[in-house]
This record gives sequence, C-alpha cells and structure tokens, in this order.
Amino acid sequence: MSAHTKAKRMTAPKIRALKGERPVVCLTAYTTPIAQILDPHMDLILVGDSVGMVLHGMKNTLGVTMEMMIMHGASVVRGSKHACVIVDMPFASYQESPELAYRNAARLMQETGCAGIKLEGGVEMAETIRFLTERGIPVMGHIGLTPQSFNSLGGYSARGRKQEQWAPIIADGIAVDGAGAFSTVVEGVAQPLAEEITGKVGTVTIGIGASPACDGQILVTEDLLGLYESVPPFAKQYAHIRTDVEEAAKCYAAEVHARTFPGPEHCYKMSDGEK
Ligand code: KIV
Repeated sequence: MSAHTKAKRMTAPKIRALKGERPVVCLTAYTTPIAQILDPHMDLILVGDSVGMVLHGMKNTLGVTMEMMIMHGASVVRGSKHACVIVDMPFASYQESPELAYRNAARLMQETGCAGIKLEGGVEMAETIRFLTERGIPVMGHIGLTPQSFNSLGGYSARGRKQEQWAPIIADGIAVDGAGAFSTVVEGVAQPLAEEITGKVGTVTIGIGASPACDGQILVTEDLLGLYESVPPFAKQYAHIRTDVEEAAKCYAAEVHARTFPGPEHCYKMSDGEK
C-alpha cells in the first residue's frame, strides 16, 4: 500500500469488531458540509430521522418520509469518505412486515450509497432485523427510548429507571443482538441498565443519554454545537453556534444599514481600468 493510498471506509463489521477494543465515536449529520467536517473524527455517522425536528421544524419524527431520508442520506455519503454512514428508516417504512422493510432498506442503500440502516424496536423487530441481515443489509438497532413510539410510550422520558422495569428492555437488547444487528443504539436508560445490556450482548451498544457504560456514544450534532433551540439534559454543548450565528446576522444587518458592507474589497472593479 503506498503512503498516498487513502484508508478505506469504516464498515459495519469493522464497527462490530471494536467491541471491547475501544469506544466507538458517532454523531448525526444531515448535510454534505457537516459530514465533511465530522468525517475524519467519526467511526460512524448516522443520518437520523431527527432531521425532521432539527432541520425541518417538525414536532416529532413521525412525518419524516423515505424521500427526506434519501435526500439527506445521499448528501452525507457525498460529504464523507472515512466514516460508516447509516441511514434511519422513517416511521411506517418497516414496521408492517419484513418484506416492506427489505424493499425500503434496499432503496435507502441503493439511492444513498449508505453502508446500512437503523430501525427502532426490540423483540417485536427481531424477525425483521434477521430478514434484512440475512439478505445483506447491515442493521443498527435502537432500543430503550424509541422516539417513533412516543405515542405508545407516553412521551420521551428515560426508561428502566426502576429495576422491575428492566426485563423487557434487556430482552430487546438480546433479541436485536441475536437477530444479527451489528450495533444497537441504547437511548434514555440509567447507567446500571446500560451496563447490564452492554455486558449481555455481542453487538456494539451506542449510548445516547445512556451513560459511559455503553460501547460507544452518539449525540445529535446540533445539540453538541449549541445550534438547536433546546438542549436535552444528557447532551453536552461543545460550542455555542446559535449565539455566533445570531451575532453574525446582527453585525451584517447593522453594516448593510450603515452601508459599510460591501466594502471596496468586496466589489468588482471595471476590467478596463476605469473606476
Ligand atoms: O434520529 C436520530 O438522530 C437518532 C439518534 C439520536 C440516535 O436516532
């Protein structure tokens, strides 16, 4: 291999092989420029259906469509060359049957170039996960707090905060693992439960609001950047971009009003030397 040969992209099997080796680093992205910035630092980039709320102002993720996931998924694949790109299956694109899930997952992979898909659910989704993985589609599971089920869960609260509530969530983790998922997002659970699930499964657990006990971590990038209007309690802001954007917009407006922007350096000169 020459010194100039580019390292190959991360793949689902490479991510799975990281269990017990080192933490797996993941963030969400929805667009090419953000993917370009994140890519060298990430093992996995998730094109989450959170795009509906974060970029499109939706109240929840239920209105996100296949077309939206394909458009954003393709943008992120174009903006990355190192990270394993996984695209979320939107609500109602997979729950009905393994066959429907296969058709939509295959479409996501064909039309975006992504390396696999993510879907929400545990025991009840195991048959579907097996159907996909046995047919060449890498699957990332998602258990614990599953936002597409907020209507039946009764909201977005953390799950399994009492030990008597653990059993079905652990069963979900084991079912998703047994069905062949290479990785599982574990969302909104207390540390002892995350520890229990992570210790019981061979799949790589990726925590969001689920403590450092998981094999890796993911956040919504806009939460980490301070770009979204509210920040969930489990997210850490590493930047305050919303304030920076507001400040830039205010300065621009003031300079346009004062006619100090554009300055001479921003103006085209006549090519014949006249002013
Ligand atoms: O939709 C999303 O962004 C997600 C992550 C928060 C895990 O599912």
